[in-house]
Amino acid sequence: MAMLNWDELEKQCMSCRKCSLCEERTNVVFGVGPRDAEVLFIGEGPGENEDLQGEPFVGRAGKLLDDMLEIIDLSRKKNIYIANMVKCRPPKNRDPLNTEQDACIDYLRNQVALIKPKIIVCLGRISAMRVIKEDFKITQEHGKWFEKNGVWTMALYHPAALLRDPRRKPEAFEDLKILQAKIREVCEHTY
Ligand code: URA
Ligand code: SF4
Repeated sequence: MAMLNWDELEKQCMSCRKCSLCEERTNVVFGVGPRDAEVLFIGEGPGENEDLQGEPFVGRAGKLLDDMLEIIDLSRKKNIYIANMVKCRPPKNRDPLNTEQDACIDYLRNQVALIKPKIIVCLGRISAMRVIKEDFKITQEHGKWFEKNGVWTMALYHPAALLRDPRRKPEAFEDLKILQAKIREVCEHTY
């Protein structure tokens, strides 16, 4: 796929019918945040609230994500961009199929090429397996840095996983501190 500029990319994505997730979507969830962000967060795919509102992470998990981000002075309104692996909601919130991820991944690639982030943070196992490595183990490798094409990349527990298992919150808090330290090291205008 040729690289598109933001306007072209958003326009194509909003009318996309490249996979069957287009059938049941209410809205395409393209992404949110400043387009010059140095830190890019990548989730899995829209849930019900996201599908209805057209914005990533706006349900209960999204509220937890915003609260976590605020601890280290990050905000979608100010200094980070948030996107998902797939832009349309998988039915009943099932994991996106590999075929659906394959169909959608070029939009994310193009977003990465336009944003040129210094840091990428995968939210949960599904995006880490796609972005970092196929055999990524979230319980063992969350909060660890990987260099992917010159970009510092790590995974956090997915906020929905933290809602299901709040005992993991202290580890997630440590991971946020690790992220904050890396931002201070490599980012120029995030803080
Ligand atoms: N979970 C995700 O992975 N992405 C969203 O946008 C919402 C919930
Ligand atoms: Fe297109 Fe991605 Fe939506 Fe599938 S999920 S229809 S590839 S935008």
